[in-house]
Amino acid sequence: MTQKKAADPAATNEYVTLTDHSTGENYDFPLMPGTVGPKVIDVRSLYGRSGHFTFDPGYTSTGSCESKITYIDGEVGVLMHRGYKIEDLAEHSDFMEVCYLLLNGELPNAREKAEFEDTITHHTMVHEQINYFFRGFRRDAHPMAVMVATVGALSAFYHDSLDINDPRQRMITSHRLVAKMPTLAAMAYKYSVGQPFVYPRNDLNYAENFLHMMYSVPAEQYKVNPVLARAMDRIFILHADHEQNASTSTVRLAGSTGANPFASVAAGISSLWGPAHGGANEAVLKMLEEIGSVDNIRSFIKQVKDTNDDVRLMGFGHRVYKNYDPRAKVLQKNCHEVLDALGIKHEPLLEIAVELEKIALDDEYFIKRKLFPNVDFYSGIILKAMNIPTSMFTVLFAVARTVGWIAQWKEMIEDPSQKLGRPRQLYTGPTERPYIPLHKRR
Ligand code: SDX
Repeated sequence: MTQKKAADPAATNEYVTLTDHSTGENYDFPLMPGTVGPKVIDVRSLYGRSGHFTFDPGYTSTGSCESKITYIDGEVGVLMHRGYKIEDLAEHSDFMEVCYLLLNGELPNAREKAEFEDTITHHTMVHEQINYFFRGFRRDAHPMAVMVATVGALSAFYHDSLDINDPRQRMITSHRLVAKMPTLAAMAYKYSVGQPFVYPRNDLNYAENFLHMMYSVPAEQYKVNPVLARAMDRIFILHADHEQNASTSTVRLAGSTGANPFASVAAGISSLWGPAHGGANEAVLKMLEEIGSVDNIRSFIKQVKDTNDDVRLMGFGHRVYKNYDPRAKVLQKNCHEVLDALGIKHEPLLEIAVELEKIALDDEYFIKRKLFPNVDFYSGIILKAMNIPTSMFTVLFAVARTVGWIAQWKEMIEDPSQKLGRPRQLYTGPTERPYIPLHKRR
């Protein structure tokens, strides 16, 4: 792969000027354009020239890196991977093809796709010693805790692909992580229900294999439902990558120290777990179950709007989307398709979700704050219909997002301008003061 030049401040002739009124100094900073989307003010020289830091808790106006993988336009609700709209990928592509696209930058031709699928298939098994890791957990351990531990532990098994400066080893590690996540996820589920682990099968595709490892038992033949496999594959596609979200930024920051990719992805899994991020899909299901009936929606919305009540409408709102999350639109459509295909005529939680969305989108509180359904609002209803336990929802998000994490990690390692990530701060603590020996303290 040719080393593409990183963003070069000299490549622009547009500038912004910062005036420090305390000194009368003016500082020009390059205004760098992307191929699409907002330009960035290159402030890398700000501290060296002005002695000031920028201040942006939550990074609401800060670009942490240059990337060619995913583009989001939050104002209009656009999501593209390497230039392909998520709606087109969800409709026409499959998860293996999207993994190839994210990792390599182009859609594969038939030969490349077959080779990639074969490579992933032949990395799905995990070292037999890993089985013993699970034994240390209580059966009721949250599967995300199990995933953090077992994915981090992969570093101990794959010494032959930890040299992050070797492109071949970086690609092997990427393949291993994409391939082994469903196996580890299914093992976490099987362990929680006291059933034996199920080995992957090389004659099944990625989503079929995952359902097989989740639901087959030694006592009888298990036939994968093709409708569920397609729905699972599409859910993987919709969760694959999403620009510099919290967990991806965590993986990049961990990886920027030179930490191995398994440990960096384990850090990403930890970050994804939070209810403000990937943990929201589990929280949405709990919220819909607590609301319990369409009749209770208005009182719930009242609670959400009550500033003294720290209740949020889970699955709504987004740091970037100030319009409908395009993934939520696809998932809402999938909901109806999966429920119909499964012959589920009446799903109370879906009825509550659809009515909840309708009422919220018509309510000034949500309109004013540009709060719309996000990817987590409908995904849980499909997963519930597929008999996936709620505690496994975020695990599935992690399975899908692993390709995004590792593609972004690879891009960071291959970026010529990549540096150790180390933010600064605004210090407002005590100024220097003398130490007081214990016997002199009151
Ligand atoms: C994901 O970043 C990504 O790309 C993430 C993700 C990905 O694919 O990686 O898209 C996946 O994490 C989706 C988001 C899942 N989280 C949830 O559904 C949890 C519920 N939503 C939120 O808590 C919230 O919307 C965030 C955390 C997602 C975004 O919050 P922000 O951008 O920090 O905005 P904020 O908390 O400052 O809220 C702005 C206002 C506040 O009201 P005021 O103080 O101005 O009066 O909107 C309100 C908030 O109280 N608000 C909500 C709300 N979300 C924001 N009020 C009620 N319900 C909500 N869900």
